[in-house]
Amino acid sequence: MADTTVMDKIVSLCKRRGFIFQSSEIYGGLGSVWDYGPLGVELKKNVKDRWWRAMVHARDDIEGLDAAILMHPRVWEASGHVAGFTDPLVDCKTCKARFRADKIQDAQCPQKPSKRPGEHTTCELTEPRMFNLMFKTFMGPVEESAAVVYLRPETAQGIYVNYLNVLQGSRQKVPFGIAQIGKAFRNEITPGNFIFRTREFEQMEMQFFVKPGTDTEWFEHWREWRMAWHHALGLNPAKLRWHQHGPGELAHYAKAAYDIEYEFPFGWNEIEGIHNRTDFDLQRHQTFSGKKLDYFDQPNNERFVPFVVETSAGADRVTLTTLVDAYREEQVEGETRVVLGFHPAVAPIKVGVFPLVKKDGMPEYATRLYHELKQHVNSFYDDSGAVGRRYRRMDEAGTPFCVTVDGQTLQDGTVTVRHRDTMTQDRVSADQLKGWVKERTEG
Ligand code: GAP
Repeated sequence: MADTTVMDKIVSLCKRRGFIFQSSEIYGGLGSVWDYGPLGVELKKNVKDRWWRAMVHARDDIEGLDAAILMHPRVWEASGHVAGFTDPLVDCKTCKARFRADKIQDAQCPQKPSKRPGEHTTCELTEPRMFNLMFKTFMGPVEESAAVVYLRPETAQGIYVNYLNVLQGSRQKVPFGIAQIGKAFRNEITPGNFIFRTREFEQMEMQFFVKPGTDTEWFEHWREWRMAWHHALGLNPAKLRWHQHGPGELAHYAKAAYDIEYEFPFGWNEIEGIHNRTDFDLQRHQTFSGKKLDYFDQPNNERFVPFVVETSAGADRVTLTTLVDAYREEQVEGETRVVLGFHPAVAPIKVGVFPLVKKDGMPEYATRLYHELKQHVNSFYDDSGAVGRRYRRMDEAGTPFCVTVDGQTLQDGTVTVRHRDTMTQDRVSADQLKGWVKERTEG
């Protein structure tokens, strides 16, 4: 049974504290499209930066890319998305609701009492029809079929069509990878669960090009690496598991696929897919473009079209996972303490800086310290209300450390550092604070 209460609390906290807002809210909102506020944009950026560091900067066999969202329409014919990126859609003629025919068991009819679609006597469901999930738009001023372009439904294709450009420019050799973070769009029939399934989202994808025959070995390598990355993000390992795609679930391009799933309050769901895409995409682009996309392996004097192992994570889904995994409520001195216990590296604010009281030079000292810290780590200054209240506000934002300037600071130059998770306090020299915080919040 889905724990809707926890999700409701997280959604409400996200709105209240400026993590995530519904898009175009003042107009009644746009279905399943979300905007990231000041704390949300930091959290998601930290997730993406961490992925980029692990997948690009820390490896010497992966290059970065930022391909455009709009691509030549033939790309999507070659990739199989025009013909096959579809979901079966059923309409209800009575209530006008739409459902995915293959997920009808998990769907709810909007009529009361709560039942599955088709279970009310008044339900009138149509036969399933295939619905393409790609958003179409028009390039140039004329709205005609010749001008149709698509908003990309995955970032991967921008990598395939550029793989030879990257190879030439970077002097990489197979095996090597190309990584990209960017927006993708899908006209999902049943989006939902907050930012879990949306129509506009961001992917963090890496395509690893390998010699045919070595793909299974690389597939296993990448499965291991990607799960280790989620563990290093501080996610609870007991809430992460593998789901292997059966023959009926495999995407049209995949020979083998595993999802990394997380146990959300609404059940186990995919946050990342690892796919063995074989040479499907490169072969298709070779055929459709008429350009050779094979690789010449000089030392062995052989030519081949590389196989591709893909790792594809949703930046929004991983961000939601960090929120859900971090959320906890504790009873402290008869009050409920709400904490987002983020890994310090993804926490939106690294340190809160407070003067104990608004007098005796403490605000001036704290403001100076705050401005100094802010040049190096995202910091927040707060002098309103009791210190206990200020701690609670930072706990809710997931800030790992709070620094208080007090009477002793003015005498010996030390400040109190309070730890979010244990609520214990240390004294640290204000001179050393920048290094102290950076050491604990980077990486
Ligand atoms: N290039 C392969 C690919 O796109 P996918 O399993 O369809 O594979 C990969 O998507 C990841 O993208 C998913 O694991 C998920 O994290 C994210 N994703 C897919 N559809 C999404 C949606 N509608 N909303 C948010 N994230 C989505």
